[in-house]
Amino acid sequence: MSFSILGTGMYVPPRVVTNEDISKLVDTNDEWIMQRVGVKERHISTNETAADMGTKAALAALENSGVTKEEIDLILVASVSGESASPSVSCMVQNQLGLSCMTMDINAACSAFVFLLETAAGFFARGKATKALIIGSERLSRIVDWEDRSTCVIFGDGAGAVVLGKGNDYLDSVFHVKGGDTVIDIPNHIGKSPFFELEQKKPYIHMKGQETFKFAVNAICKDSKHLLKENGLTMDDIKYIVPHQANQRIIDFASVMLKVPKEKFYVNIDRYGNTSSASIPIALDEMNRNGMLQKGDLLLLPAFGGGLASAACIVRW
Ligand code: UT7
Repeated sequence: MSFSILGTGMYVPPRVVTNEDISKLVDTNDEWIMQRVGVKERHISTNETAADMGTKAALAALENSGVTKEEIDLILVASVSGESASPSVSCMVQNQLGLSCMTMDINAACSAFVFLLETAAGFFARGKATKALIIGSERLSRIVDWEDRSTCVIFGDGAGAVVLGKGNDYLDSVFHVKGGDTVIDIPNHIGKSPFFELEQKKPYIHMKGQETFKFAVNAICKDSKHLLKENGLTMDDIKYIVPHQANQRIIDFASVMLKVPKEKFYVNIDRYGNTSSASIPIALDEMNRNGMLQKGDLLLLPAFGGGLASAACIVRW
């Protein structure tokens, strides 16, 4: 017993920030951002937290699934950009939904949505959940250094959610973690202790772009090939690859290295930027609502990012 996806939802804040808008903040331009990253615009929160956006995505997913919020007995949220270390984002989503079920946050940065699915599968397998809300929600604009042109052009805010019920549609998964803070680091914002002797790192996203890029392309290819081989499948069996939306060029490279046509990858980074843990569930919701998914379709979801961590899974729609 694992689970089936019963419905999807997403929410992005209304304020759209274009590349031209960003070029007024830092020395950059639309041509560079489109060529190197593939982002045209992103949604940026002006007054909503990760929990607020996560709740809105959850309500959309509930409506899409036909499940009532009272049926939910598990809420799992991924976020690196919540307002508080405690309460967790999932606690605040639960509070906003007026529920009293089990909640938990998972911090696995951009690959976290797959970590959430794996964790949910465990709850279903043990009979501890019957209907679950799985949410990736990020207000990355809160942790981006808006004076650093190499990162501030990439990211966006938003939330995506799925409702899960009992089923057997989570086929397999793979996870790799190579822990360390030298390539991607997002230090927490904390007060200054008079006793602590090390220098406090700035509480922004620090990223070595090219190292992350190479790690990402390698991760998509390695994890995807591993899953196909382990399950006796080929790319022809996969209807769509729905990757973490980190950079258009990463997806293009992966498409060449995997010898898979670009059309097999779902891409929306041009409209939302990189929304970290929210990017895969946002993509799933768009595909679902656009009528792209038929019952029985196999989807491959590869994700990668801070940790450094990578994860991928195969889900049957
Ligand atoms: O989701 C989490 C995982 N994150 C990712 O997957 C991100 C992976 N990495 C990337 O997406 C890319 O490495 C970046 C988009 C971050 C950077 O692209 P790049 O092609 O690796 O550029 P670069 O860092 O090698 O920089 C090339 C040039 C530099 O100028 P010089 O030294 O050649 O004169 C940069 O200063 O581009 C310059 N540059 C910019 N120019 C205009 C860097 N950022 C900008 C900018 N606008 N925004």
